Amino acid sequence: MPEISRDVAYAVARLAAGGVVAIPTETVYGLAADARNVEAVGRVFAIKGRPADHPLIVHIGGAAQLSDWAKDIPAEAYTLARRFWPGPLTLVLKRLPDVPDVVTGGQDTVALRVPAHPLTLELLRRFGGGLAAPSANRFGRLSPTRPEHVVAELDGAVDLILDGGPCRVGLESTILDLTGDEPHLLRPGAVSLAALEAVLGRPVARGGKSRVRAPGSLPAHYAPATPLVLLAGDRLWQEAARQAATARIAVLTHSGAESLPRATVVTLPSRPEDYARELYATLRELDAGGFDLILVEAVPESEEWLAIADRLQRAAAGHRELGGFPQQRG
Ligand code: TXA
Ligand code: MG
Repeated sequence: MPEISRDVAYAVARLAAGGVVAIPTETVYGLAADARNVEAVGRVFAIKGRPADHPLIVHIGGAAQLSDWAKDIPAEAYTLARRFWPGPLTLVLKRLPDVPDVVTGGQDTVALRVPAHPLTLELLRRFGGGLAAPSANRFGRLSPTRPEHVVAELDGAVDLILDGGPCRVGLESTILDLTGDEPHLLRPGAVSLAALEAVLGRPVARGGKSRVRAPGSLPAHYAPATPLVLLAGDRLWQEAARQAATARIAVLTHSGAESLPRATVVTLPSRPEDYARELYATLRELDAGGFDLILVEAVPESEEWLAIADRLQRAAAGHRELGGFPQQRG
């Protein structure tokens, strides 16, 4: 068992000594190391089983530290920082030459954010520098939103877990690339496209043409081990009834519970913020439940559900190659 503590001073000491500490943020738990300590950051990659060319977000205590890591910082970065930091927005900027390659995956950019969690803000203030931290899960798996998830994911591999309770947002931060001519959304999150466009006063691009790589945007990511299939409304219940005849299935809905004999039906909240907060914890529980299949009700296509729809598609994408499930039957 790793150590679990609420003692910020102790966490600072472990990080300063090159340790790896799981930290709470408002989005998900991170696996943090001193971003200037190449060996410590290397341990983060080893613990996660993360390929070396996948860059990490550097967590800082405030926008004043942007210039410790980035150069040619556009005014828009500060505008967004004033409005959304501390908060679930990561900015991709041009890196300074002394940012370790291990952090940026050798790219000429660096991702930065100020997380909105009181313990971690205090930690960053006392630590002074930046903390490189990916989500505190094994590569490709669900991000942890509670300290006990970190224990389950990483067991003894991490030096310390700073216990900040359950995460308020529950999905990873919005990532915005500010290194091109137009701002580019790399990963949807709780800071919506509409909110970004409103603050910037111009459109934000999304889709495949950014010049930077954001491997968290791999199609199969954020996935439970149990096969997961996304289906809309009527098809969901038809398929659930059919599958339940021969398999142990769980159904995850948000639009109200129908009960189904021989299936476990879980209803998540119908407001997207509440749904997001509970999604990963619920998928984790279902994943541990020994089901053959998790059927998930597709969420609305509106902007406020965008980040959730994105994560559900990735959770389902890992299982497309499996035979015998509805996607293959068309
Ligand atoms: O909410 C979050 O962002 C959480 C908490 C812990 O802050 N962190 C998180 O980290 O989700 P991670 O490593 O699981 O996902 C970070 C994403 C990856 O998709 C990575 O490729 C992308 O950020 N990223 C990091 N540096 C980048 C860069 N220089 N350019 C483009 N994408 C970058
Ligand atoms: Mg991650």
